[in-house]
Amino acid sequence: MNKQFYITTAIDYVNGQPHLGHAYEKIITDVIARSQCCLGSESFYLTGLDEHGQKVQQAAEDNGQNAQDYCNNLAEDWQAFATKLGLSNGDFVRTTEERHKTVVAEILQGLYDKGEFYQKEYVGFYSAKQESFLTEKDRNDNGEFDPIYGEVQELRENNYYFKLGQYQQWLIEHIEANPNFVAPDNRRNEVLGFLKNENLEDLCISRPKERLSWGIPLPFDSDYVTYVWFDALTNYLSIPRAIGRESELWPADIHVIGKDILKFHAVYWPIMLRAANLEIPKQILVHGWWQKDNQKMSKSTGNVVDPVAVIDEWGLDAFRYYVVRELDIGPDGNWTDEGFAARYGAELANGLGNLINRSLSMLGRYRDGVVPEAHDELAHDATEARDKLVEQLRANELQAGLMTIWSYIARLNQYVDETAPFKMAKDPNQAKRLGEVLYNLTESCRLLAVWLQPYLPTTSHRIMEQLNLPKDIINIAQSGWGELTAGQKVNKPEALFPRRDK
Ligand code: ME8
Ligand code: MG
Repeated sequence: MNKQFYITTAIDYVNGQPHLGHAYEKIITDVIARSQCCLGSESFYLTGLDEHGQKVQQAAEDNGQNAQDYCNNLAEDWQAFATKLGLSNGDFVRTTEERHKTVVAEILQGLYDKGEFYQKEYVGFYSAKQESFLTEKDRNDNGEFDPIYGEVQELRENNYYFKLGQYQQWLIEHIEANPNFVAPDNRRNEVLGFLKNENLEDLCISRPKERLSWGIPLPFDSDYVTYVWFDALTNYLSIPRAIGRESELWPADIHVIGKDILKFHAVYWPIMLRAANLEIPKQILVHGWWQKDNQKMSKSTGNVVDPVAVIDEWGLDAFRYYVVRELDIGPDGNWTDEGFAARYGAELANGLGNLINRSLSMLGRYRDGVVPEAHDELAHDATEARDKLVEQLRANELQAGLMTIWSYIARLNQYVDETAPFKMAKDPNQAKRLGEVLYNLTESCRLLAVWLQPYLPTTSHRIMEQLNLPKDIINIAQSGWGELTAGQKVNKPEALFPRRDK
């Protein structure tokens, strides 16, 4: 069976409402998924929710609800959020669904039967907040545990452990032989540094039911539920398997995640899969974290960006544009309302919006909206931009791709100023030249719509509508200069990004 491009996001904890960080991750993943479609490979995009574990159980309790009702209510908001962001996801996983739980139990049983787990007694410290066991190494210089761990309890309990150590060398070799396995490079070095300098401790994969009930029971010992990360990571595989498409989809091409969950994805997950004799994903793509006004976002201080409010005020594509243009995949980013408004004004309203508007208005005014005979004055520049963009999309350089498109927009706005069609229109001797310029501009508008498909799907459609062209997906690499045909009648333009007063 043909392998389909398969890309995933982290699945979010349902212990609150979605924020900018969640939105960003889902949007960059969407742009990559759509890029693949626009470059000729079908793609499958999976996102969803991580509903088990201490954090969710606690949040449900704090809300006076049983855990499943709590999840069901919030899941509606999160699914609506995915729609609000215009995501092209093919499925939406919730880890409390039977189809997911069945596969988790299958994998656990398989590993247990292979002898990958053993039981032992643990005596030590546990952070409920981080859902992890702590060691003496985790104490700070004053001998205390960092506040990030919340309240730390002393524990003595029996648990199941997964023997990771035997796969450590294999993983180092895999990462060394596959330089793109973890991207960008600084994250790859972080993982390699960790793997080469520390012996992997065995991973505790169970929690006694009396301490945590909100989880998937171990199929071989009903006194326990599985550790939430073992459950959560498995979503990437459980859905392809549950919908009968494992052979088409697995291994995943890209898992998109934030920097804080790198170790789970680049160390634990490949080892889980390797131990289960399954193929491992081709790439872990790691993005940075957003701050607002150079401060950590936090509900308690009110320093937050509410993506839904921004979308309601400015439109979805303005939001998608800002987050992808502002922050490359890798470093940390900083949101400012001023920066958002500035990009909206300069790059969307004045840059793209104004160009489309004046090009189509002039065609309407001077040629009754009818596309003149083909001409290729800008063909070279357009083809160069297109080829560069295709390369950047293939390399997931999304921010750079937008810069390529906007350089071409700048070139076009300069072309209008240089050629001054509004002057030519007054001189009947220049009618032929005016037709050439109008063709170059209109054909460029069409190409911009093609190039913007993965980034700003709604805007791309609106430009196609204004050009009176069909809205089918167009292959970016294959769509070249001159496809717009003479005689085509375009529609009246409408402002794509209306100017805003501050
Ligand atoms: O970690 N900027 O869920 P989560 C950018 N359930 N990204 C951010 C961010 C910020 N300020 N804050 C969070 C979990 N993220 C687990 C994942 S996957 C099998 C299980 C990102 O809701 C974060 O890095 O805490 C992660 O990739 C995603 O949002 C979900 O975080
Ligand atoms: Mg988190």
